[in-house]
Amino acid sequence: MDLHIAVLPGDGIGTEVVDASMRVLDVVAKKFKHTVHAEFADVGWAAIDKHGTALPASTLEICRRNAAILFGAVGLPDRDQTLPQKQRPERVALLELRKGLFANLRHVLLPPGLASRCPLKMELIKNGIDIMIIRELTGGLYYGQPQGVSGTAPERKAVDTLAYSEHEIIRILKVGFETARKRRKRLTSVDKANILATSQLWRELATAMGKQYPDVHLEHMYVDNASMQLLRRPSEFDVIVTENTFGDILSDEASMLAGSIGLVPSASLGAPDSQGKSAVPFYEPIHGSAPDIAGQNKANPVATILTVAMMLNYTFGLAHEAAAIEKATFAVLNAGEKLTGDLGGKATCSEVTDAVIAGL
Ligand SMILES: NC(=O)c1ccc[n+]([C@@H]2O[C@H](COP(=O)([O-])OP(=O)(O)OC[C@H]3O[C@@H](n4cnc5c(N)ncnc54)[C@H](O)[C@@H]3O)[C@@H](O)[C@H]2O)c1
Repeated sequence: MDLHIAVLPGDGIGTEVVDASMRVLDVVAKKFKHTVHAEFADVGWAAIDKHGTALPASTLEICRRNAAILFGAVGLPDRDQTLPQKQRPERVALLELRKGLFANLRHVLLPPGLASRCPLKMELIKNGIDIMIIRELTGGLYYGQPQGVSGTAPERKAVDTLAYSEHEIIRILKVGFETARKRRKRLTSVDKANILATSQLWRELATAMGKQYPDVHLEHMYVDNASMQLLRRPSEFDVIVTENTFGDILSDEASMLAGSIGLVPSASLGAPDSQGKSAVPFYEPIHGSAPDIAGQNKANPVATILTVAMMLNYTFGLAHEAAAIEKATFAVLNAGEKLTGDLGGKATCSEVTDAVIAGL
């Protein structure tokens, strides 16, 4: 298969972890007889310095003509401050590249060998943690209108609108059910149906869709309870599906359970519109550009390597290839000999990558 990928390393450790993950991808492609066609493009400060904008038209063009986007990270706090909010790299690049991608998937997996890195007690995590969080990304409070501040002090008013259409809810729930079907077949739909109208509609539609997926066990949970249960019984979660704001908060909370921010991959996916066109899927580690360790070969490449596995799985349908990357990566983490500093080890980014490649 020909794998056409736009590769946007970006700033700080973005370049190091993307370079590591591309080395892994090249080895897997060779092993399984695929051809990688990677088009590299500038984004973030790397792009501002050359083109005067964080997302040049040439980069956008490259993204649009490929099947997937592999992204490192953008932003450098010291330099970001010199720009108005609206021109900062994260705002400019991410908003545009994620447009139309309504499903954000974060895979939170705690390898047994790293149990001591998890902030929870051993008795709570002894059965492992493997959660796929699916957050709705293009609706809800972030985009609902009206939104803004009106009036004059001290009588100003601010409003945000939480709105969802049936169509928006159904398409994200479907991603939830389909994902659960391919995993341990448990889906937790998180809402606030005791208070919010959007959540009541959400729950009604989830219950109805559940009848089409009799093999998936559907559980409804209020968001306040979900935030508690994630810490009380994390092993019992398989797939969580929820709206934008709840997903933003819960996915950050859950990410901590993996032991390091350097371990969590993510995918942002869309679906074809009425003309059969869909936005290009976007794959990135959840961490930022980590300027404190950039350029020192200290970054943990695992989140980006696992992000490549998600890309092979979701965009190219190459489940065996993705599984091979995951197996080799988790073997390295469980062995505990080659770990980066964030996991209490002394290995470099390159050494961890070499160990994953050796396992392949
Ligand atoms: N999607 C993105 O591009 C994205 C996401 C978050 C932050 N940012 C940007 O990144 C810059 C730095 O942000 P921040 O410091 O708040 O978050 P960060 O994720 O870059 O770093 C937070 C902490 O985690 C550590 N860390 C992060 N990833 C790591 C890895 N792979 N291996 C080892 N340690 C790792 C860092 O060293 C740092 O101590 C900012 O400009 C921010 O706007 C970009």
